[in-house]
Amino acid sequence: MSETLYEIIRPPGVAASAPLSGREAPGPLKVPAYLEDHYHWAYLKPRNVRLLDRDAVVTTILWGNNRRLQRAAFGEFTPGQRVLFAAHVYGGVVANLAARLGPGGHLEAIDIAPIQVECCRKKLVPYPWARARRGDARRPGGGPYDGVCSYFLLHEVPDDWKRNVVDGLLATLRPGGKAVFLDYHEPAPWHPLKPLMSLVLDRLEPFAKGLWAHEIEALAGEHAHFEWRKETYFGHLYQKVVARRRLHAAPA
Ligand SMILES: C[S@@+](CC[C@H](N)C(=O)[O-])C[C@H]1O[C@@H](n2cnc3c(N)ncnc32)[C@H](O)[C@@H]1O
Repeated sequence: MSETLYEIIRPPGVAASAPLSGREAPGPLKVPAYLEDHYHWAYLKPRNVRLLDRDAVVTTILWGNNRRLQRAAFGEFTPGQRVLFAAHVYGGVVANLAARLGPGGHLEAIDIAPIQVECCRKKLVPYPWARARRGDARRPGGGPYDGVCSYFLLHEVPDDWKRNVVDGLLATLRPGGKAVFLDYHEPAPWHPLKPLMSLVLDRLEPFAKGLWAHEIEALAGEHAHFEWRKETYFGHLYQKVVARRRLHAAPA
């Protein structure tokens, strides 16, 4: 695929490195400037995508915790459910979720980058109950869903996008449906990897520390409509936040 087969969202006058507001008017789907500016090498450059799209890469980045974190996230869903996966992840992650939901379920995987949708589609061929399409996690469409899974997406988007993504995903849930956010968290002060992770995130993941500073629950505009639960893993370096939409509106 050509590297120029997409349009970039960037308001006039905004410098290439400036984070964008997440509140542009809805319009045709474009690749966001933060992806082009900070993650082109990882998610848009075809040669690197081919190199990086494997389990060993994700397992290494996650210090060997990939399978454990998938079990924690996907264990929140049951076979037969209709689930939205908010963005493609390298390796076998999306296929593992499809397998978990089984032929009686439905998996809808979205990604904002066309090349990532292509990668995702190939992995889902053996699972006819799963499909991949282009979509922006801020307004994913296709709901209502029984479940929504965001696996290491929030740390990659600017803070105002984080709010829009959390709200957009929560809005697609049916009453009783669950959203699962698996992502980075501030490690414990004693964590031996904290200084290294701090450096790596500062260099490569400029928006990740937004999740060190803010609770995911606090990003939700309508958080009272949900029951919230949080667990952390690996010395708090990772977190799972589960939001279950209440069956009845919360008392005012
Ligand atoms: C899930 S995140 C990071 C996953 C993890 N680091 C990995 O190993 O793949 C990466 C994906 O998010 C996608 N993405 C970024 N912003 C998005 C948005 N607003 N909506 C949907 N997908 C988005 C990117 O195109 C990319 O494929």
